Amino acid sequence: MKLSFVRVTKWDQTLDLLNVRNQCRDGMTHTTRLLTEEDQAKFFANEIVSGHTYECYLLKDGEAVAGYGLLKRDGDKKWMTAGLARPYRAKHLSRLLISLITEVAYADPGIEVWIDVYSDNLALRGDLHAGYEFVDSVRQPDGRLLHIMKHRRDRRLGESEAGRLALPDILTEINEVDAISRAFYGLR
Ligand SMILES: CC(C)(COP(=O)(O)OP(=O)(O)OC[C@H]1O[C@@H](n2cnc3c(N)ncnc32)[C@H](O)[C@@H]1OP(=O)(O)O)[C@@H](O)C(=O)NCCC(=O)NCCS
Repeated sequence: MKLSFVRVTKWDQTLDLLNVRNQCRDGMTHTTRLLTEEDQAKFFANEIVSGHTYECYLLKDGEAVAGYGLLKRDGDKKWMTAGLARPYRAKHLSRLLISLITEVAYADPGIEVWIDVYSDNLALRGDLHAGYEFVDSVRQPDGRLLHIMKHRRDRRLGESEAGRLALPDILTEINEVDAISRAFYGLR
């Protein structure tokens, strides 16, 4: 794999984003409907070109789209969402993706990064790994439990959390995130 993380600024990238987001729609916390090219054209005009509320990123593997990350601005908060294209799932890539999109969020000063995620979503493990902590948990009318979590950059997992997650190759992961974010920001 040759991974890179790029900001969506062009229409063809916005179509790639549509495709990968629709592959991920079942895991979305809020809108799970299939988005259309027409929806995406409005999103492109309102959000990508003029950039009001959202920042969108693609995780690429060479030219292939491996996943995406989204940040929704809400005052000083950014709400994070992430998803992987189907062929890239079950390879432990979610932690890497979540760490990348979270770090990118801090490019603006004074930002807090938040996520709301259902307790049965596999992303929850990656969120914990990446340093999100529980702020609130709300039982939904359909009985599912929605966790509201805030990122802490200085967070160290407690013994019980780390034990439950089992951290086999954290150093490799840190080095990967470091290399990709340096390339992203053009650092050496
Ligand atoms: C959520 C998502 C990013 C997870 O990625 P993934 O490739 O499926 O999962 P990963 O291979 O990274 O595994 C995630 C963790 O779950 C564990 N896991 C995988 N399958 C599991 C299973 N059946 N039961 C329990 N744990 C499992 C993995 O071991 C891994 O934990 P670890 O990193 O501590 O080892 C991906 O499924 C996706 O894009 N879903 C649709 C979009 C979505 O739901 N996004 C989140 C919105 S909040």
